[in-house]
Amino acid sequence: MDPYVRIFDTTLRDGEQSPGATMTSAEKLEVARALARLGVDVIEAGFPAASPDDLEAVRRIAVEVGNPSAETDGKTPVICGLARATRSDIDKAWQAVSPAAKPRIHTFLATSEIHMQYKLKMTREQVLERVREMVAYARSLCPDVEFSPEDAGRSDPAFLYQVLAEAVRAGASTLNIPDTVGYTMPDEFGALIAGILANTPGIENCIVSVHCHNDLGVATANTLAGLRAGARQAEVTVNGIGERAGNTALEEVVMALQTRRPVYNLSTGIDATQITRVSKLVSNYTGISVQPNKAIVGANAFAHEAGIHQDGLLKNNLTYEIMRPESVGAAQTRLVLGKHSGRHALKTRLASLGYDLNEAEADQVFERFKALADRKKVITDADLEALISDELYQPRELFSLDGLQVACGTMGMPTATVRLRDPEGAMHVQAAVGTGPVDAAYKAIDAVVQARVVLLEFVVHAVTEGIDALGEVTVRIQGQNGFSALDAQKEVDQPRTFGGYGADTDIVVASAKAYLAALNKLLVASGRYGPVEKAAMEFVNP
Ligand code: KIV
Ligand code: ZN
Repeated sequence: MDPYVRIFDTTLRDGEQSPGATMTSAEKLEVARALARLGVDVIEAGFPAASPDDLEAVRRIAVEVGNPSAETDGKTPVICGLARATRSDIDKAWQAVSPAAKPRIHTFLATSEIHMQYKLKMTREQVLERVREMVAYARSLCPDVEFSPEDAGRSDPAFLYQVLAEAVRAGASTLNIPDTVGYTMPDEFGALIAGILANTPGIENCIVSVHCHNDLGVATANTLAGLRAGARQAEVTVNGIGERAGNTALEEVVMALQTRRPVYNLSTGIDATQITRVSKLVSNYTGISVQPNKAIVGANAFAHEAGIHQDGLLKNNLTYEIMRPESVGAAQTRLVLGKHSGRHALKTRLASLGYDLNEAEADQVFERFKALADRKKVITDADLEALISDELYQPRELFSLDGLQVACGTMGMPTATVRLRDPEGAMHVQAAVGTGPVDAAYKAIDAVVQARVVLLEFVVHAVTEGIDALGEVTVRIQGQNGFSALDAQKEVDQPRTFGGYGADTDIVVASAKAYLAALNKLLVASGRYGPVEKAAMEFVNP
């Protein structure tokens, strides 16, 4: 059997559906480029029927990432759009993915009794008929069609074989088996895949795919069990983000196959050394921070604290390390550049990290680098990556921070004064008192921006060790009373949440930047400042 496992990344679709993970079109495009450079085989770029903005974002990815370009190192992944099993969803998916060199339509319909009876209100016969019709319709538009029986993990296997056989006959070439609610256990899921391969007529000409959710913490184990049983596509997300407890994490599957190659005898096309970078990009854009003990990409994944472990590592790193940090791009190379270093040295270091900056971007980053080098003696690659995220990869700023001053401590009332530039370029100065300096700064910002929001999450962490470390802040907010942009992806209207990211050696400044980044996204999405596309697609830099 072919040992190649296709990595199907659904960070921009199933991942983006998780609370707070909303990304702007520009951010989605940047993540898609990073995924292409990482070497994923398929990018599920979104759910085009969700809204015109979603359709446009997928189309833009199909044009710019779905065709050979220098920005993706010439790699051209399949660009896939999700569609319910209806003509109108399938038409929209095709409209969005058709500009790609390798387009795919992914359509789905539920097959478990509970979904058919209560959600779809359809009989088994009606489901079979709809699958037949809609897969054939998708196939009449697109040469590459994937079909998923939603909630397969809780479906009757005998009925699944029938549904999948219909999908194959109608022209599907990939059959994806989702454990939609994360219910199955690894041995059951492996057996389900083996049963499908053995009992579905025509399946020998198809790729079987697995798509697992992590409600019981076994999504990666289920995915690996499915691959062992013969599946050859894994549907995953970066950092495992996704609905509820999330999806299978890309980095966990890739590194399990790589580290335990003799056990699985399977390979992927992923360049694992880019994993850490892509993980950071996704966590910065979504505002969903990675738990420190998360496998492969957590801050402590390669940290050794116990004296016994450190002693062993010094003697031979294999004593306590099953993977080298550099194999996933997590090595902390120290940049031997300081405040006297030149622009060329910085550009060369950034190029070796994979950032190909144009002149204007290089100037912008150099300015920030110099300012940082004045305050911090040793600058690591992690510092540089935080700086790039903060400086270049922000959506267009409607309101931007021009100045911030705080007074705080045990002697009085924490007070912040902010100077903000509004979308028309006018300056506003505002002071406020709060429970602490960050609260005061946020109140002062609120008084200028006048958006009504609640702060759902606020996370600070240091990029590197040391008292002079850069601090990174991610926040998540939700609009209220007229500022609550609705989530078009959800069947039930639900206010969207927005993430923001900021980095600075001063954590109050980083906090203000992160809050403003989230506010700017909310203002754009709630339609306060012109068409979403116009504002969201423009980066701060030219
Ligand atoms: O979890 C699920 O069932 C899905 C399908 C749309 C594939 O995400
Ligand atoms: Zn899913």
